[in-house]
Amino acid sequence: PELDEIMGLPDFDWAAEHYLPDKNYTYYRNGAGGEYSYRNNLEAFHRYRFVPRVLAGVSELKSTLATTMLGHNISAPFFISPCARAEYGSAQAEYGLVKGAAEGEIIYIPSHYAYLTIEQIHAAKAEGQVVFQQLYLTSNDTVTQQEIDRSEKAGADALVFTVDSAAGSIRHRAGRYGVGSANSAFSTFTWDYYKKLQKKTSLPIILKGIGSVADAKLAVKYGAPAIILSNHGGRQLDDSPSSLEVALEIYQEAPEIFKKIEVYADGGVRYGGDVLKLLALGVKAVGLGRPFMFANVYGTEGVVKAIEILKNEIAVDAGNLGVADLKKITASFVNWKPNNWF
Ligand code: FNR
Repeated sequence: PELDEIMGLPDFDWAAEHYLPDKNYTYYRNGAGGEYSYRNNLEAFHRYRFVPRVLAGVSELKSTLATTMLGHNISAPFFISPCARAEYGSAQAEYGLVKGAAEGEIIYIPSHYAYLTIEQIHAAKAEGQVVFQQLYLTSNDTVTQQEIDRSEKAGADALVFTVDSAAGSIRHRAGRYGVGSANSAFSTFTWDYYKKLQKKTSLPIILKGIGSVADAKLAVKYGAPAIILSNHGGRQLDDSPSSLEVALEIYQEAPEIFKKIEVYADGGVRYGGDVLKLLALGVKAVGLGRPFMFANVYGTEGVVKAIEILKNEIAVDAGNLGVADLKKITASFVNWKPNNWF
């Protein structure tokens, strides 16, 4: 497929399957175990119907897509989640993503396991471009400190520590191609260690991979400025909940969390409506992993197109929902009684 044949984000998956070697595509596409969480991430959004309001005087919505993440301006409430091995999708590797994010004016979070080095990625930033840096903990404190220092020096605007991968992963589909296992880092990571980490850097440390209300509460208690609700795209613990399910639980049990810290979420977001459902609960910005990795098959141009597609869908869906200003979307725009369609 040519780029102008791409109509929506799922088309990039179709294109990537067509163009990439089976091993590379499968590495991206794979989920853990029976891939129940992978599928649930996609399906959970559609268990909840909108409550559309008509004749709401909606016009010029696009101008209100802009928001902030930790005080940084972004043109729309979504970002590029960290995914390893960008070279599997594109000869441009992470360059396609960092340049696409600059053009689309959204935040990119490069993976610790990128093909290019931290220094190369951050050196490719446009003037004033905001890029966070994802890191995994290593079992070696000195190495962790080195990685933090490298990220700071390279000019990262925040650190994102991924905490949902304490024990590696089980990925059957990709295992057949020898790319099934992710790093296991039975690390010394505890909430007290998170406190220590905060002393190692002046950058804000976002925690990625929060999957329960209890841990969201602990993140607040331990001073996290922001968290990313995530089950790693269903790649780590099969049957871990989707971020929409966790966001709904937070909304029901501890809604103050959305006010105390910035809550982001990723996993299974493919349509503008998916973004709206997360925002309706109080999520500040939404991450996408695979769609951008697949868009990067077309390099920067593909990444820019993916950003444009999602912006347009958010604007159109918000308009039809009767939401003129995204900042005013509330949970009442969604019927949270799940239908049992699936
Ligand atoms: C990931 N993810 C991930 N997360 C992270 O913190 N560090 C990493 O290195 C990776 N690597 C990675 C590789 C690939 C191929 C995928 C698909 C995902 C998880 C990623 O940040 C994000 O949580 C999910 O991709 C979100 O789900 P969707 O948007 O892919 O459905």
